[in-house]
Amino acid sequence: MAQSDLKEAKASKAADAKAKSALFPSYARYPISLVKGHGSWLWDDQGNRYLDFMSGLAVTNLGHAPEKVTAKVKAQLDELWHVSNLFHIPQQEKAAQLLTEVTCADVVFFCNSGAEANEAAIKLARRYHQKIKGTGRYEVITFQQSFHGRTLATLTATGQDKVKDGFLPLPEGFKTVQLHDMAALKEAIGPNTAAVMLEMIQAEGGVYPVDPGFVQELAALCKKEGLLLIVDEVQTGMGRTGKWFAHEHYGIEPDIFTSAKGIASGLSVGAMLAKEYLREAFTPGSHATTFGGNPVAAAAVIATIETMLEDSIPQRADEMGKYLHERLQEAFKDEPFVKAIRGKGLLIGIECAEPVADLVTEGQKRKLLFVTAGPNVIRLLPNLNVSREEIDQAVDTLAAIISAYTSKEEV
Ligand SMILES: Cc1ncc(COP(=O)(O)O)c(C=O)c1O
Repeated sequence: MAQSDLKEAKASKAADAKAKSALFPSYARYPISLVKGHGSWLWDDQGNRYLDFMSGLAVTNLGHAPEKVTAKVKAQLDELWHVSNLFHIPQQEKAAQLLTEVTCADVVFFCNSGAEANEAAIKLARRYHQKIKGTGRYEVITFQQSFHGRTLATLTATGQDKVKDGFLPLPEGFKTVQLHDMAALKEAIGPNTAAVMLEMIQAEGGVYPVDPGFVQELAALCKKEGLLLIVDEVQTGMGRTGKWFAHEHYGIEPDIFTSAKGIASGLSVGAMLAKEYLREAFTPGSHATTFGGNPVAAAAVIATIETMLEDSIPQRADEMGKYLHERLQEAFKDEPFVKAIRGKGLLIGIECAEPVADLVTEGQKRKLLFVTAGPNVIRLLPNLNVSREEIDQAVDTLAAIISAYTSKEEV
């Protein structure tokens, strides 16, 4: 190629690249840019207003820009943003203290996301077995259709092939069995098994609550076999299901559980919570993260928990969840397209007869935002302060969308 052609080819390649987004195309993004939020409502850059029934995927549990959290975070921004975890951080101490007061946990490790919290849980289980118990065990058993995150360890733990595609080889030390298959679980347990990890409601996997009998048998089995029970509460925690954490519905106390999403009302915080006997497994220097629980993040956690206590948010989620469930049952009782309505509190799945991606798009046209959970399930995740009127509006819009979709199909 001549020098001038080469120059031209290079220039055209650079122009092509410039015309594209500078972001990796790892998300299939909707053609909407949201610029402002308040309570259950979001506005796009064209001035359109949307009723938000997805809450940033179970994150903005107190609604957008919750007043008390905003005030506390702003005040903290004026004081101090970040210091290293090499120092005592009083806000982090207080956030951990509050978490232990509202749950069965005794110790907390703060990080930055759900995947990182689960990664910490897996590491803690290994370290406990290797350093405290001296068993050398390392394997974690998880369940089909689960979702635990996108780091290499947590995507290996995830029971869905699609998240593993193209990322081989996967780390060792994980086995996945069918949910509710006690015989398969017992067969999978071996001399290297350290822990069993599960969600109380498989949220991303289609909003499938785990059967209480299975959970109780599993908890007893873990005790008998000396295995740690890890509950991934990244999506189900912080009031979402009508309790502080979903395992409370099942009358069990996990050895370890994880949180993220709603824990700081929208700032990126994850937490791994555990029982006292696991404390010494994380000795100084054994596990760390630069940003975890910095003063601003911790202030957001404190304000979120204080608001949840003051406003009885888990109870509210329980009440509003029952109302939403009833309204949906009523709206779709004679609709054959709707196969099942599942979930707890304000984590609700509507299983449909066909893929629902077009319904999500239609919802956006009608200014109602919701997401899917697997191809055929509509997932509703309103904020936990949602009003009855907002629920009525969302159910009416959903009913209109489904009725328009099914009548179009019949033509
Ligand atoms: C149950 C569960 N675990 C883990 C994760 C991963 O959390 P993050 O995206 O914050 O890493 C998610 C995210 O959707 C989740 O729902």
